[in-house]
Amino acid sequence: MSEQDVKKTSEEVLISANEENEKKPPFQTPKGVHDILPENHDYHTYIKKVVRHRSRQAGFKRISTPIFEFTEVFKRTVGEASDIVNKEMYTFLDRKGRSLTLRPEGTAGVVRAYIQNNMKDLPQPVELYYYSPFFRYEKPQAGRYRQFWQFGFEIIGEKDPALDAQSILISKKIYEDLGIMDSLDLQLNNIGDVESRIKYAEALKDYYYGKERYLSEDDLMRLEKNPIRILDSKNEDTMILNQSAPGFEEFLSKESIEYHNEVKEYLDVLGVKYTENTKLVRGLDYYTQTVYEFWDKKRGSQNSVGGGGRYDGMIELMGGEPTPATGFAMGVERVIAQMKRMKVKVPKKDNLHVFVAQLGKEAKKKCLPLINELRDKGIKTMGALGKGAIKHQLKLADKFNVPYTILIGLTEVRENTAIIRDMRVGSQTTVAFDKVVDEIVKRIGEDKLDFYDPSQPI
Ligand code: HAM
Repeated sequence: MSEQDVKKTSEEVLISANEENEKKPPFQTPKGVHDILPENHDYHTYIKKVVRHRSRQAGFKRISTPIFEFTEVFKRTVGEASDIVNKEMYTFLDRKGRSLTLRPEGTAGVVRAYIQNNMKDLPQPVELYYYSPFFRYEKPQAGRYRQFWQFGFEIIGEKDPALDAQSILISKKIYEDLGIMDSLDLQLNNIGDVESRIKYAEALKDYYYGKERYLSEDDLMRLEKNPIRILDSKNEDTMILNQSAPGFEEFLSKESIEYHNEVKEYLDVLGVKYTENTKLVRGLDYYTQTVYEFWDKKRGSQNSVGGGGRYDGMIELMGGEPTPATGFAMGVERVIAQMKRMKVKVPKKDNLHVFVAQLGKEAKKKCLPLINELRDKGIKTMGALGKGAIKHQLKLADKFNVPYTILIGLTEVRENTAIIRDMRVGSQTTVAFDKVVDEIVKRIGEDKLDFYDPSQPI
């Protein structure tokens, strides 16, 4: 193909993309991924603050693992029969032919880091949290994206029903802090130990054999590889069949039943309400014993805003010593959608205090250091440093919704003064230039200033 042909082809591509939707600019984000624009960043910032606060209270430390890992990390833990491994991973070969995968979830990477960094030598349990982006090649729809954010925590190195109850309580408190817990329902189950699950899987096989014609291709594969996964199917016929499938409770070992009862006792002590759901299996294969999800009361399982549970086998599966663990993760986009549905307002600090308008180069020379000094004093300041007329700049100040505008024109430069305009009442006062900052501080109020104090603990 000649260079011209290549050029023509790319032009044609652009033209056909434009024809599809004339108003769309030629470059769009790929399907299922989104920009986080400032309005939504306010939610992210707020959520990050809330989860950081609760994590810190509980003694969790932050961890960030790489965005990609060796594919085997996820295959081995999340499970070959899970949708995530089967069809939702962004897997690619690097230049040396090694298979790498964009992380679809956080637990496997944290466990890999726990083993690799000998965290077993630290005081146990090791409690870690993360706030990170994850990637799943899912069919995009409301609340289901190909890049999404999760806050999650993992507690590795100890096993006790009280710990499970405490993890659930922390998750619940976070939803309370975010103002959405009233709209959520906590679904709880115990999926037993490995032996109980083998027995249960056999019973499910017996149940689905003979009903294969109602199962989707994926569910038929699951029937062979891991029949318990069928309970998590989104295929409508299968979902109907699932309603009459045997429940886990008949196959739980005595120890698992006792463990589950104890978790529930502790939840009762903590006043945490839950709905028992013996069909809740979660979408990942690594769980043992306690599993839970937070569902929207109206929408149910389709839009789980978070979930977690115990995964006592994973560390050994990844080459570490047998070590119990439990954890939780919530989908940040889904939480934001829920906050918007519940009309939760995010209080924010980034409203500007002052707008500085100027006219002419000499005025600009006075404004630049003034803006700098105002900001250093904790006054959130925006300056119009372009060439617009004062009238135009005042309109802009109105749009930014500032309480005060400082105006410096030719007269003010000559007289070494500045005008302070109170935007709410429209009144103006002329003050000596070297008194402007003090006057603004007085009007804003010392307690409203926004200081960055690097000596404060992080
Ligand atoms: P998960 O249930 O797969 O669990 O994901 C946790 C949450 O992430 C979901 O409840 C949902 O809110 C959100 N989420 C999942 N997929 C998407 C998507 N495609 N778009 C938007 N949000 C999504 C885990 O990932 C486990 N690692 C949780 C865990 C931690 N278990 C133990 N420790």
